[in-house]
Amino acid sequence: MLDLGYGNGRLLARAQERGCAGTGITISSSQVDACRAEGLDVQLCAFGEATGRFEAGTFDVVVLNGPTEHFVTELAAAAGRDHKLCSELFEIIEHLPGSVSAVTPGT
Ligand SMILES: C[S@@+](CC[C@H](N)C(=O)[O-])C[C@H]1O[C@@H](n2cnc3c(N)ncnc32)[C@H](O)[C@@H]1O
Repeated sequence: MLDLGYGNGRLLARAQERGCAGTGITISSSQVDACRAEGLDVQLCAFGEATGRFEAGTFDVVVLNGPTEHFVTELAAAAGRDHKLCSELFEIIEHLPGSVSAVTPGT
């Protein structure tokens, strides 16, 4: 799985414990350093660079847990940045997952 904006890496760590190969990306170099020290597979990579970094279909699942509510703020919208960030995320969701990525909440 690919964890977009993995934060402190807890989800990646739990996934790894359960035998799931996980990669995380973030724009925070301190998060990269901390999670690499824990043996997690993480990369310093902005959302806008992800589709150039990974081949289409590399991941069965792409997880986006938490980052979006930080993007679409009043300030971001006023500056026209909400559209750009959401576009980057939709591009990732469209191009990177493999065929088993569709998950319906509650199933
Ligand atoms: C609120 S944290 C979410 C943490 C984690 N997913 C969780 O559930 O605990 C937001 C994460 O998104 C990352 N992030 C924010 N903007 C980003 C961007 N443009 N590209 C890549 N990562 C970004 C931050 O570095 C951070 O890891």
